[in-house]
Amino acid sequence: MAIGEWWRSAVIYQVYIRSFADGDGDGLGDIAGIRSRLPYLADLGVDAIWINPWYPSPMADAGYDVSDYRAVEPRFGTLADAEALIAEAHAHGLRVLLDIVPNHTSDQHPWFQAALAAPPGSRERDRYVFRRGRGPDGELPPNDWKSTFGGSAWTRVIEPDGQPGEWYLHLFAPEQPDVNWEQPEVRAEFEAMLRFWFDRGVDGFRIDVAHSLIKEEGLPDVGDLQWPMARVEVDGALVRPEWVPHPHWDRDEVHDVYRQWRAVADSYDDPRVFVAEAWVDEPERLARYVRADELHTAFNFSYLTSPWLAPALRRTIDETLAEHAEVGAPPTWVLSNHDVARHVSRYARPQSDRPVYSPADIELGTRRARAAVLLTFALPGGAYVYQGEELGLPEVEDLPDDVLQDPAWERSGHTERGRDGCRVPVPWSGNKPPYGFSPDDSAQPWLPQPTRWGPLTVQAQTGDPGSMLELYRAALRIRRESPALGEGTLRWVSLTPGALSFERDPGFLCIVNISAQPIALPDAAEVLLASGPLPRERELPEDTAVWMLR
Ligand code: NOJ
Repeated sequence: MAIGEWWRSAVIYQVYIRSFADGDGDGLGDIAGIRSRLPYLADLGVDAIWINPWYPSPMADAGYDVSDYRAVEPRFGTLADAEALIAEAHAHGLRVLLDIVPNHTSDQHPWFQAALAAPPGSRERDRYVFRRGRGPDGELPPNDWKSTFGGSAWTRVIEPDGQPGEWYLHLFAPEQPDVNWEQPEVRAEFEAMLRFWFDRGVDGFRIDVAHSLIKEEGLPDVGDLQWPMARVEVDGALVRPEWVPHPHWDRDEVHDVYRQWRAVADSYDDPRVFVAEAWVDEPERLARYVRADELHTAFNFSYLTSPWLAPALRRTIDETLAEHAEVGAPPTWVLSNHDVARHVSRYARPQSDRPVYSPADIELGTRRARAAVLLTFALPGGAYVYQGEELGLPEVEDLPDDVLQDPAWERSGHTERGRDGCRVPVPWSGNKPPYGFSPDDSAQPWLPQPTRWGPLTVQAQTGDPGSMLELYRAALRIRRESPALGEGTLRWVSLTPGALSFERDPGFLCIVNISAQPIALPDAAEVLLASGPLPRERELPEDTAVWMLR
């Protein structure tokens, strides 16, 4: 490993700023809140933080609708606060990654406002994807593309003369118009934004929907093309269908953008890094984003979406390792983020290759989540921790309808409840809301916290050896000290079909029992850390993991 390539083994903590800690008492997390919790993060033992978008935003999609990429949303703080945070994080030994949103801007961004005011065919319109509609009067959307949040991906504008006119593309909400990456001015502007933050000491960026920037020329209909392509069963085995290009996801041309971005990152003395948020199902396609002259890492969503089943996990781990090895990039392992149901709740249900909806058994989900984090931190490469997972927070599935803020709720006609359930503010202390999230006598948190969260606070778990928090702290401490963990390779050890068991040199063994029965532990190894009680000697109960030293 080259000196300074910290990102190859890093554990990166995701700070969802709205919900992490509220310094000024308005019920919304902010930079002051993050600064006050840096000692907590340093003590937890992570290497870096990734902060979700903190730029000025009308918040149509919780900050993923950016109206100014070179400033800070006033509700989160100021640019000076941001600079202070970066410096303080560094002083705590924590690197700082921001979130860049290159696929779309806010509809309030000056570029889009200028595009609305300018005529069809103008340079201003050409920074976005404007088209004439279909039908005699252009009254139908230009093609059949769908918004990820529901409904058409096109919205018709009223032209400056007051008449309905062109349509613009938005793969997400209408407040998030897609930018035209064929435009050299767009490319130059985003590179300048990267430099703006790199010059302020930011260590890297997570790239929002990194696989969506480029659209196929002519914008052909998607038709019945499936994305992602589901595996199909052939002779009892699940196989991937042959990859076919999609008109707006994962286009080959997107890699040119990232080669240019890599050159920007490498132009710094302490090179900056990128992580791609690319929901690309095939490991081989994902690995293209992390070729030597492109991005450094990519979130591994096939691991996140894998059910808690030994064969499925083994398959995704093997495929990930093989494809990343091909291009010399370290894999990442991620269990949760702000877009998916928290894994305690996902694992709290019967597991299968298809999602199962049934009542949650949170005790079971928690036991599996404890085992899952030992698996995650023992795998070769880097890992992500989504705020609150170290507290074992479950998904909040009973938020009242009238507090839901995810645009998916409205856009789906109230059929998709969206992602608010994993975004509920973190409980820090005390036994009632806001649990130290905001100072006393503050406004209510922007999403209500359950009244049952008292035992899950940082304060309640600290010092309790059986708590999720202490498990994370212990695992991260061992991971830091152990030469076997982080980047490298693994060797599978055959035990029993329901177990995942592998060795890492020197002398490290990870065993995860995903079967319904206890399994025997090897004699010649000493237990370093277990995810749950080991009531019988040399026996690993179901849904439990151990780290051992030979
Ligand atoms: C992915 C982000 O993680 C998600 O929260 C957002 O809604 C979409 N990209 C659109 O920016």
